[in-house]
Amino acid sequence: MFGQLDILPPDPILGLNQTFQQDDNADKINLSIGVYQNAQGLTPIFTAVKKAEQQLLAAQNTKSYAPQAGDPSFLEHMTRLLLGDELSEQLQDRVAAVMTPGGCGALRMGAELLSHAKQNVTLWVSDPTWANHYPLLQSAGLTLEKYSYYSAETHSVDFTAMLESLQAIPVGDVVLLHGCCHNPTGADISPAQWDQVISVLAERQLTPFIDVAYQGFGDGLAEDAYGVREAVKRLPEVLVAASCSKNFGLYRERIGAVMVITQDPQTTLAAKSHILTAARSSYSMSPYHGGGIVGLLLSDPELTSEWKTELEQVRLRMNRLRLELAEGLNQAQSRIDFSFVAESKGMFCYLGIPLEVVHALRSEFGIYLLDSTRINVAGLSQENLPIIIDRVSEVLSR
Ligand code: LMR
Repeated sequence: MFGQLDILPPDPILGLNQTFQQDDNADKINLSIGVYQNAQGLTPIFTAVKKAEQQLLAAQNTKSYAPQAGDPSFLEHMTRLLLGDELSEQLQDRVAAVMTPGGCGALRMGAELLSHAKQNVTLWVSDPTWANHYPLLQSAGLTLEKYSYYSAETHSVDFTAMLESLQAIPVGDVVLLHGCCHNPTGADISPAQWDQVISVLAERQLTPFIDVAYQGFGDGLAEDAYGVREAVKRLPEVLVAASCSKNFGLYRERIGAVMVITQDPQTTLAAKSHILTAARSSYSMSPYHGGGIVGLLLSDPELTSEWKTELEQVRLRMNRLRLELAEGLNQAQSRIDFSFVAESKGMFCYLGIPLEVVHALRSEFGIYLLDSTRINVAGLSQENLPIIIDRVSEVLSR
């Protein structure tokens, strides 16, 4: 049965992370996978998350199934976190959320909903986008096409090209947008640019599918939700995939939510029923634990404020590190002006260095970044920064 199978290549991100784990270089530095590391190089559990987990476990007296759509408190509070209180209350039954196994589960269920709603639907993704968007969304039967996004020359969003590209998308297609902290480039569009993008979506009757995996890592929790909220205010239908991996640090618990907003409760209910049916025919229902934690945390004002403070510290620390990296690289070499690094948002940023430099950093110094030159800013620390600056400058100056 399985004898004729070839061994498939590893995933570009998970595979590189695994190679890093197996590297016996004692000085190795991991800037590959998007996982937050503190000053000691550890990925700690947020204190508020730990407290919520302890309360959850103490109060839990059954492991029976939770509702198929997920923990009700989780769903309500995630909706409020993403859309804000006012909009969530206005929408009432026009919004439905379903708990999913991570942001990937949310993306996949959103994609399943799209293919249930329309045969051979085309989804337009930014060029570039997160590598896993392709297999994840194509597996649900969607055809993926690219719209212009990032300019390697200016190291920023080519907004004119992006708008032109969006304007050329056939009426009725779906556009995948990164809600904030664009992965992999770290180059985001501004609120004013979101307004223009939403106008094009409205004119062309394009449905946005917004991937929000880093809320709170860019400019702040509310600021990072600007695009989602404006899209919901101005467009008839919006699909959102949210992840709790990064902003709650719940990576391995696999917790996220898919959210659908339509113009009337009946349509929303129908869309939700398709998501639940798609889930039932694959994993049946989401794991509960992470959603239980987030639901409890967000329904407790004290824990919520503690979590927000911790999240803000993480965000500010990443911002300091990105600034120090940009300044350090600019002082240490003159081949590339790295000022753009300081402008990037969230966990990632392209360094824009030649591929041979990426490979030399990996093979000679055990410094791991993706071939695309994406670095995980959250993998930088006061300790490894001088080493990274020194090695990158050295290889670049050869
Ligand atoms: C990343 O882009 O590194 C993260 O989102 C982790 C992953 O699953 O790829």
